[in-house]
Amino acid sequence: MTLNDDELHRLRARFPILGRRNYLNSCSLGALSVDAEAELDDFKDHWHRMGASAWYEHWMGKLDTLRAEAAGLHGAQPSEAALLPSTSAALAVVADAVPQGERNRVVCTELDFPTLAYQWRVKPEIELVVLRSPDGIRIDPKQFEEVVDERTLFVATSHVFFSTGYVQDITALARIAREAGAWSLIDGYQAPGQIPVDMTGAGVDMYTSGPLKWLCGGPGLSYLFVRQDRIAELHPRFTSWFAAKDQFAFDFEHFEFRDDARRFELGTPSLPTVHLALGGQRALASVGWDRVFARVRELTDHLMGRCDEAGLTLRTSRDPARRSGIVMVAHPDPKGAVAHLDAMDIVVDHRPGHVRISPHVYNTVDEVDRVVDALLGTL
Ligand SMILES: Cc1ncc(COP(=O)(O)O)c(C=O)c1O
Repeated sequence: MTLNDDELHRLRARFPILGRRNYLNSCSLGALSVDAEAELDDFKDHWHRMGASAWYEHWMGKLDTLRAEAAGLHGAQPSEAALLPSTSAALAVVADAVPQGERNRVVCTELDFPTLAYQWRVKPEIELVVLRSPDGIRIDPKQFEEVVDERTLFVATSHVFFSTGYVQDITALARIAREAGAWSLIDGYQAPGQIPVDMTGAGVDMYTSGPLKWLCGGPGLSYLFVRQDRIAELHPRFTSWFAAKDQFAFDFEHFEFRDDARRFELGTPSLPTVHLALGGQRALASVGWDRVFARVRELTDHLMGRCDEAGLTLRTSRDPARRSGIVMVAHPDPKGAVAHLDAMDIVVDHRPGHVRISPHVYNTVDEVDRVVDALLGTL
């Protein structure tokens, strides 16, 4: 295993819930760390002691630090990063910011998170094409190729499917979009913190994610990255003073967008989450990101192996290059099973027809074994 016992022990001590519960649900909500709590205490302390002047001396700087750190985790530049309240808000801003012209087709898939499709479902002028999965696990890039053409405005889909853990080839998808003159927009909420992300290397135009899940930073914030060479083409139709070239000019006769991705920001970001996110990322980074990714892989392989041995049916890719730390186990009563496990202090989740298990770097092999044993007891 990538971490030795000592390293694992030290890491686990930073996440108090692990001492109380067998926590295997990081794809819903990453665990709270003492590092994140310390950041939050810092925020409260500045608020208590300084009031609004903390904005200038501390909090504006924290926003910059978070934009830069988050950019680094996604293979983007700090100038390509924006902070928004949720993935839905980030998607809505960019969906409306593109010059539409004659194009009115948006291509997504049935495995994406629904909020992605909703952006266009509510726009009668848009033709939404929803690709169907051949096996309930993945979509073949060829399926995109077949429908993306000169009518396509966006190829909008996930990096990692929340519903199956499948990792899409975003380089191929970005190329398909580019060659047809369409925008590539990737919902990567389930990716950073469990697999490496390089949106620039992949040639993606827009990438959304956030600290809530594998980055252990809590709710109330999302990240949006837009490639520098495409920002100037985009004119958001929802905006704010954070998007203005001179935020503190207070001159509403002359609005000018910023040149960087902050032109997509929608007002004051949630400062508690900004602090929590920095702490959560620091806790994970303490072991090194490559080791985080390697350990998620090891635990997932172990979990799948145990499920196979036990004769459980999985809806998760068998291709090691395409699977991630989200494992879907078929179950006749997933909700009941999750409640049963919860009473045993084992925290997993359910989606229609399946129990969803998501081990993170801080979990142990023993915890993974125990969830499989407990699940067998519900069948
Ligand atoms: C892939 C994916 N996208 C989006 C969301 C939710 O986005 P929002 O921040 O709008 O609640 C989730 C889960 O909560 C998700 O798993």
